[in-house]
Amino acid sequence: MQELVCSRESWTMDKLRVGILFGGRSGEHEVSLLSAASVFNAINKNKYEVVPIGITKQGHWVTAADAERLLKGKPADHEPRHLRAGDPDATSAAAVLANGQSVVVPPEPQQPGSSLTAFQTDASTHALVRRATDRAINVDIIFPVLHGTFGEDGTIQGLLELADLPYVGAGVLGSAAGMDKDIMKALFRAAGLPIVKHVTVLRGDWETEPKKVQKLIESKLRYPVFVKPANLGSSVGISKAHDRKELGPAIDEAAKFDRKIVIEQGVGGKVKAREIECSVLGNDKPEASLPGEIVPGQEFYDYNAKYLDEGSQLIIPAKLSNTETKKVQQLAIAAFKAVDCSGLARVDFLMEPKTRKIYLNEINTMPGFTSISMYPKLWAATGVTYPELIERLIELGLERHQEKKKNQYSR
Ligand SMILES: Nc1ncnc2c1ncn2[C@@H]1O[C@H](COP(=O)(O)OP(=O)(O)O)[C@@H](O)[C@H]1O
Ligand SMILES: [Mg+2]
Repeated sequence: MQELVCSRESWTMDKLRVGILFGGRSGEHEVSLLSAASVFNAINKNKYEVVPIGITKQGHWVTAADAERLLKGKPADHEPRHLRAGDPDATSAAAVLANGQSVVVPPEPQQPGSSLTAFQTDASTHALVRRATDRAINVDIIFPVLHGTFGEDGTIQGLLELADLPYVGAGVLGSAAGMDKDIMKALFRAAGLPIVKHVTVLRGDWETEPKKVQKLIESKLRYPVFVKPANLGSSVGISKAHDRKELGPAIDEAAKFDRKIVIEQGVGGKVKAREIECSVLGNDKPEASLPGEIVPGQEFYDYNAKYLDEGSQLIIPAKLSNTETKKVQQLAIAAFKAVDCSGLARVDFLMEPKTRKIYLNEINTMPGFTSISMYPKLWAATGVTYPELIERLIELGLERHQEKKKNQYSR
């Protein structure tokens, strides 16, 4: 495993070293493996040297010299999972997790050439006593291809800020605000953007005064409503409550995942809302892609429809008038700015099928990033290929870090 650590080769080649960070403790661990494996495959290897950095489901960080080579050592002890885009356990990313060497990013500014500290432990045992090796691993930028909790919510971004490492995507504030559906809506509303009516309730209030909470919801919204944990993703914990009978169980379900629960007016009423998505790319001057549309195979775009069921359809570009397309693009850019995003985001809309009224649903600061995911596909349709997109995101991450370097932190 030593050849990966500051080997002569890597120093003389003078390529930018990109740490691809993947996996993680969230429910979207498997999706992240697929996204990362796509990035390994597509990244321009003449220009960049990839340092794969995996985070196990338990939260241990590991690296390995050659993600592709490790494919041969497929882990045997994992439950097979079959996501629509492929089998995450068969990816090079999963192989790194199974065979890698312990590594951490220390939370302090690093010397050039020593961004990661490698440890002498067996990754499979993760012994508590870890001894740092005297060799450091260099990365010039980190690409966190991580979705959901501890990846897309500002926590990893905070660590990378402390380490003074450039990274791809939104910073601490944009990530955290984009993760919390309640705060996100407050920022959208403050920016004058169209959102659906909603009520936010606390788990504690629901537990102690359920009747009062139900009354509050019914005074503001009509059924059907959507009940969601404020902080999560991939539709986990989300239900559609068609009537009062379904409201209680829907809130109980969402309350398993967060102390804040968002209840929203269902768009479309009895019929399905149209789901329009738009990709945004840039820092201070973000640009929007052509919009696309998702037609879920299920009653709404739940976890099964997203990852397991073959019945959902992507329509690119979305069937919208020119005026509607422009409006979606403008709103997507405004949403990106409203939560202070950088790098990339996918902005999702709901459209009332009858009136064609468009509502902003949410922003995803690290959207699904396999080569067949909506975010890259929308850019491909707009003229930016997947490898170009990766390159552009790396440049934007470096640019943002440079921009931040202009700040002084004290007089
Ligand atoms: N207010 C709403 N009206 C109609 N459908 C909704 C509404 N909110 C959510 N949905 C459906 O639920 C899905 C998941 O909700 P979303 O807020 O996007 O959560 P997640 O962050 O988990 O993707 C949406 O893609 C859509 O199908
Ligand atoms: Mg969504």
